Amino acid sequence: MSRFLVCPPDYFQIDYEINPWMRRANGVDSARAVGQWQTLMKVLEEEVGAGIERMQPVQGLPDLVFTANAGLVVGRRALVSRFRYPERQREEAHFERWFREQGYEVLTLDQSLYFEGAGDLLGFADTWFGGYHQRSDIRAFPRLSEIFQREIIPLELIDSRFYHLDTCFCPLSGGDLLYLPSAFDSYGQAAIAQRIPEDRRLAVPEEEGVRFACNAVCIGKQVVIPADCPLTTKLLEDRGYHTHPVQLDEFMKSGGAAKCLTLALN
Ligand code: ARG
Repeated sequence: MSRFLVCPPDYFQIDYEINPWMRRANGVDSARAVGQWQTLMKVLEEEVGAGIERMQPVQGLPDLVFTANAGLVVGRRALVSRFRYPERQREEAHFERWFREQGYEVLTLDQSLYFEGAGDLLGFADTWFGGYHQRSDIRAFPRLSEIFQREIIPLELIDSRFYHLDTCFCPLSGGDLLYLPSAFDSYGQAAIAQRIPEDRRLAVPEEEGVRFACNAVCIGKQVVIPADCPLTTKLLEDRGYHTHPVQLDEFMKSGGAAKCLTLALN
């Protein structure tokens, strides 16, 4: 069974602005956010059959809901993130405590290296891809590669709206890749093309990329995807995936959607 760490949105709001989506003036409708989050949980648990681990929300840490940024979990080891912005650095201790309480062997990077967890490191069984420049440091990847014994292909994120790799890049089961080509420079696009054959690359149209079409959760052949992305949904269905659209626009006000709200634990 696929298991995910999540954090209920009790204190989710827009308290600061650290990406182009966040506007303090564009506040969160809390009741609506809670409803959308609960629907996401219901879809994950009941439609997709995933297991959910809920951590305790903390007042004053509005982005703790985005557990994809807690760190990276591989087997029983958890490498805790080091956030670029002080606003989110305060989350590190809470994620670390959760990992310790669950009995993970907790690893950390050098104090000088920023790394924002599964939000910036995604991949297939052997080859991982690391997004850098906006949040994580490229210098974190050689160290991560050494720790986890995987090849990591660095991909520069060139569009500030797609500041974490999981906002524009989504590896799917069976080796397919859903991605937004314009979020990468020509070097990154070539690196992707070299690793993923053309017939396995599903390019998301720009107008759905900005609706977080790539911020999807893939579990086997099931894909939980933000609502209002009909072209992407069709691309996936034509490839044999079964899609589960969920409305998550309250979370997009903070620059996140389905994938950001979950951390894969296995
Ligand atoms: N407001 C959060 C931030 O800017 C959103 C994080 C979204 N998480 C993700 N994995 N893309 O850090």
